[in-house]
Amino acid sequence: MQRGKENIVLSGFMGSGKTSVGNELSHLTGMPFLDTDALIEEEAGERVHQIFSKGEEEFRALEREKIEEVCRERGVVVAVGGGAVLEPLNVRRLKEGGIIYYLEVSAEEAIKRVPADGTRPLFDPAKAEELLKERKPAYARAADVIVKTDGRTPLEVALEVLGDWKRRKEGSRV
Ligand code: S3P
Repeated sequence: MQRGKENIVLSGFMGSGKTSVGNELSHLTGMPFLDTDALIEEEAGERVHQIFSKGEEEFRALEREKIEEVCRERGVVVAVGGGAVLEPLNVRRLKEGGIIYYLEVSAEEAIKRVPADGTRPLFDPAKAEELLKERKPAYARAADVIVKTDGRTPLEVALEVLGDWKRRKEGSRV
């Protein structure tokens, strides 16, 4: 692993399991888990959808700031929201400190996983396939590694991520 790339970064569409997999990874490794959406909510004292109601740009600005902040850490597991890697600046920052794992999910499976509780302002089951298709090239471009998640538990996905991450770590030892 290149020096400075000690973080495990989880990216992917809504419903790809970033938070669940991040929690598993944190338990498995003892590394702290930083979920940028949760940190934004904590700091703002509002839920993501409430911030979105003031305009998406309001949320994206907070997301950029939070990503900049978490990327100063090393030895952490980071999960970013489904739109974060659409912005090249965020990708650059995330890559400086870590390996980006793109947790791939099909639209069909995402629809099953995302609760219809209005907490994800950009998730419309009727348009999920279209939005995923539009975003996929950016997810793939940003990724160092692609990990499939359909039909797999968060623990199974976490173990695959961890296996890859450990191999990179060992490979970089001199
Ligand atoms: C978003 C995904 C959400 C959250 C916000 C915007 C997106 O995070 O950041 O609602 O643009 O895909 P999750 O991917 O964790 O649901």
